[in-house]
Order: sequence, then structure tokens, then C-alpha cells
Amino acid sequence: MNEQAKGNGVPLSAHVREEIDHWVAKFPEGRHRSAVIGALHAAQHENGGYLTPEIMTAVAEYLKLPPIQVFEVASFYSMFETKPVGRHSISVCTNISCMLRGGEEILAHVEKRLGIKAGQSTPDGKFYLKVEEECLAACCGAPMLMIDHVYHENLTPQSIAEILELVKD
Ligand code: FES
Repeated sequence: MNEQAKGNGVPLSAHVREEIDHWVAKFPEGRHRSAVIGALHAAQHENGGYLTPEIMTAVAEYLKLPPIQVFEVASFYSMFETKPVGRHSISVCTNISCMLRGGEEILAHVEKRLGIKAGQSTPDGKFYLKVEEECLAACCGAPMLMIDHVYHENLTPQSIAEILELVKD
């Protein structure tokens, strides 16, 4: 792909370029737009959990796409953040199965424990509590939440305390 992609002076690391190449190779020739989600995921992970306009521009340049085609994906999907957030992302599912099994109480409990509301990060920058999460496809383990892509199911207030304690800085 485009080795010179720098996104207004912000270069993509060799690792992120490697990840993007990996995703591009999964799709037919000329369909590299399909790699945008994988590319943004890799770039966001390396940038501490959020994307900047410069990084999104660099991804667009690397994939030889108009920047709008990258920006619109980043702003549409809930797994992408376009402003600085805490290092560890927490998603509490409050969709139907989880709601019926106490998901909203779980969210309230996490908010109280962290001292923040959904959509905010803790002052020390450790946690980010996502504003809302749709079904994460673990309904049989409701209520559940996800921290940094790891699922925790059949939650109780006690298990939440233990789970949060185990998250390293
Ligand atoms: S409703 Fe929560 S995982 Fe499906």
C-alpha cells in the first residue's frame, strides 16, 4: 500500500501498516475500502483508545481513499472514539436481554463505583465508560459488560468490584 501515508505529518507505525495490509489482503483486489474498520481498529488501539483527525487522514491516505470514507465509518460505529478517552474502555450492555436481567442496575453500579456517568472517563484517565452499548451477542450470559474486548457475564455488584480491581493501569 501507500508507504508514504503520513496524514498531515502523523505517520502510521509499521505495526499499524502491517495490520492494514493484513485486512486488505482479505478482500478482492480493489476492494480495500472493506479494510477500513480493521484499519481504524488497529490505529485506535495503538493510539490509546481513540482516533484523531490526523490518524484518520493517514488511514485514508494509506488505503488511497477520500478521507470522508474513513471519517464516516469512525463516526458511525460505536467501537470507535474520536475524542480522548480513558485507557480502558467499559461497555455495559443495556439491551433487552441484559435489561431484563438487571443491566441498567449494573450500569448504575459501575457509574457509582467509578464516580462518573456513562460517556465520561475517570479523572485519572484509567477508565472510559461508553455512553451506550447495543447487544454484544452474549445474551445467554446476561447481564454482561465488556472491558477492552474481554467479556464478563452473569454480573453481580460483587463480581463487578472484582473485575474492576483486576484491570491493570
Ligand atoms: S442483550 Fe446484552 S448481550 Fe445481548
